[in-house]
Amino acid sequence: MKRFRQFRINQETRDRYADISLSVKDFIYPYFVTEGEHNKEEIRSMNGVYRFSIDELIKDIGEIKILGIDKILLFGVINEEKKDDSGSAGYDSGSLICRAIREIKKYYPDLLVFTDVCLCEYTSHGHCGLIHNHDVDNDSTLPLLAEMAYQHAVAGADFVAPSAMMDGQVEAIRKQLSSGNQSARILAYSAKYASAFYGPFRDAAASTPSFGDRKSYQMDFRTSTQGLEEIEADLEEGADWTMVKPALPYLDIIQKAKTKFPETPLVAYQVSGEYAMLKAAAQLGYLDEKRVFYESLIAIKRAGADYIITYYAKEFASNVIS
Ligand code: PBG
Repeated sequence: MKRFRQFRINQETRDRYADISLSVKDFIYPYFVTEGEHNKEEIRSMNGVYRFSIDELIKDIGEIKILGIDKILLFGVINEEKKDDSGSAGYDSGSLICRAIREIKKYYPDLLVFTDVCLCEYTSHGHCGLIHNHDVDNDSTLPLLAEMAYQHAVAGADFVAPSAMMDGQVEAIRKQLSSGNQSARILAYSAKYASAFYGPFRDAAASTPSFGDRKSYQMDFRTSTQGLEEIEADLEEGADWTMVKPALPYLDIIQKAKTKFPETPLVAYQVSGEYAMLKAAAQLGYLDEKRVFYESLIAIKRAGADYIITYYAKEFASNVIS
């Protein structure tokens, strides 16, 4: 008989044998930014997550900085009337996100700012690229994504994170950054699946497609190796960091990605639906919130993620870690 229980006999012993841990430095905290002033509205399906106008965002960042969080990811949420067919409000040098980056960098120059690069938050049809013949056209979308990334970089973003799932988007962005002498790095949303777990996000960012779905560009979750091929292609195109998204239902992909590309920083995105599910169950009293989040985040790290994008980062840093 092998005596395993000696490793678990009390908390101190369990702590000694634990080889996976979480730090606030592992987290990238997502923010939804809106127009206006003094706006802080809670997102209905994501309890504890808000849309902030830039002034309120600056205040909230002050709070997370104190907690030790040093990486954030920005999404823009604009009014319907500012959206158009090509999402032009997203790649303008005066865009909401560019203004937010400039303001953030004024107050917190050492915060690492990541920006989502995708058209869906800015197009009237809610798709991630330009529409031709009722489908999303790949190649004509690339210059727009490259321009958006370039403008974010000029405004001061440290990382641009293309999430549109257009083929060649990393290469297009890399070229435009280099030709404009921008040193921003690229976090590629490489293995991004067409997932029903994004539901609450589309509510938060008002980015639900007005027709069809995203299955012609985001990955089919019934494939086991395409995710790795997408990562490989993005690295060849010049990505610095890579991502698997969603996280908890895709731990196998996270693990394979880390095994195959051990040197590349790997980010896992605990998406809106994963967050909403745990929060809702906790509110109903069915699950212990802190413990289920802790266990899920440990699992994501154990699978191989170096960093985790999670809407729970702030609460985790204030209630669980300390
Ligand atoms: C933009 C984008 C989405 C998410 C991140 N970037 C939405 C989508 O692809 O539909 C989802 C994030 C989440 O669910 O938390 N394309």
